[in-house]
Amino acid sequence: RQRLLSGMQPSGDSLHLGNYLGALVNWVRLQDEYECFYFIPDLHAITVPQDPAELRHRTRMTAAQYLAGGIDLSKSTLFVQSHVPEHAQLAWVLMCLTSFGEASRMTQFKDKSARHGHDSASAGLFTYPMLMAADILLYKPYGVPVGEDQRQHLELARDLAHRFNTRFGDTFPVPEPLIPRTSAKIYDLQNPTAKMSKSAESPNGLINLLDDPKVTAKRIKSAVTDTETEIRFDRENKPGVSNLLSILSTVTGRSIPELEAAYEGKMYGHLKVDVAEAVVDTLAPIKARAEELLADTAELDRLLAQGAAKAREIASQTLAEVYERVGFLPAL
Ligand code: TYM
Repeated sequence: RQRLLSGMQPSGDSLHLGNYLGALVNWVRLQDEYECFYFIPDLHAITVPQDPAELRHRTRMTAAQYLAGGIDLSKSTLFVQSHVPEHAQLAWVLMCLTSFGEASRMTQFKDKSARHGHDSASAGLFTYPMLMAADILLYKPYGVPVGEDQRQHLELARDLAHRFNTRFGDTFPVPEPLIPRTSAKIYDLQNPTAKMSKSAESPNGLINLLDDPKVTAKRIKSAVTDTETEIRFDRENKPGVSNLLSILSTVTGRSIPELEAAYEGKMYGHLKVDVAEAVVDTLAPIKARAEELLADTAELDRLLAQGAAKAREIASQTLAEVYERVGFLPAL
C-alpha cells in the first residue's frame, strides 16, 4: 500500500467542524486504501505562546478526538510529533535549503505574524513551513491529505524535496497534495467569508466537536445568512447559505444540487434546523467516545508511545540517509 501522512494542531480544547469535515473524515476514509501516518504537531503549536499544562491536555484531547472520529490503530499509526526527534532534526537541514525570501512569501506566516505583531512573532512561526516539510518528507509519503488552506505549505514541501534531490541525489519522492474537491473548506458561521478557525474573534461562529449539543444547535441556528430567501449555493453572493449547504452535504453525503432541489421554496429556518440536527447527530457519538478515552490517560499515552515507536523506525532511517548525503560525519 502507498503511504500517506497528515497532522492537525492541538490548538484549542477541541477540534472544530472545519478540522473534522475538512480533514478527519477524509483521513478515516483513506485508512482502508493507504498506509496512513497521522500525528499531532505539538512542535508547531509552540510557534505561538502555549501554557504548558494546557498544551499537554490539548495534545491528549486531540489524540482522543482522532481516535473517536475513526482513526483505527489496527490500520494506521498515530503519534505525537515531539516524540519523534527526527522531525526537528530534518527541519534544520530543510531550513538551510530555504531562502529567506521564499519563507517570507508564505501567506499563513504573513497572516499570523500580522496578528501577533510582525516584530514579536516568533522565529518559529517563520520556520514553521520547513518543519512541516520535514514532517512530510521523513516518511516519504505518496500523498498528504489536507484542506485547501495548507496548499501553499505543501508546495514548499514539494519544492524542497525536489531541491534536495537535485543537490544531493534522489532521496525524496515529491508528495502529492490530496485536497478534497468538494466542501474542502468550512467557513465561520458568523463571518462566512473567513475559514472556521480557533482564532476567530467570536466563538459563536465556531462548532467544536466536544461542545454541548445545545450550544452547537444554537450556533448553527444563529448562523449569518443574507437578506434574500432563496436556498442556493453561491459562494460569492450567498456565503452563509453556501456554507450551511456544504456542511449539510458533507455530513449527509447528499450532493449540493440534490439539496438545492430539496430546499426549493423552503425558508432559511428549515435549512438551519436540519443542519443543526445532522451535525449534532454526527458529533454526539464522537464526543462520547472521546470523553471515554480521556478518562484513561495512561492507556492513551501507551497507545501514543506505540505509535511513536513505529514512526521512529521510518523517520530514523530517512534522517540517517539525509545526514549521510549532506556530508555529516557518521557518529560511530
Ligand atoms: P491545522 O491544524 O490548522 O488544520 C488541520 C487540518 O484541518 C484542515 N482545516 C480545515 N478544513 C476545512 N475548513 C476549515 N475551516 C479548516 N481549518 C483547518 C487543514 O487544511 C488541515 O488539513 N500546518 C498544519 C499542520 C501540519 C501538517 C503537517 C499537515 C503540520 N505538519 C504535515 C500535514 C502534513 C496545520 O496547521 O493544520
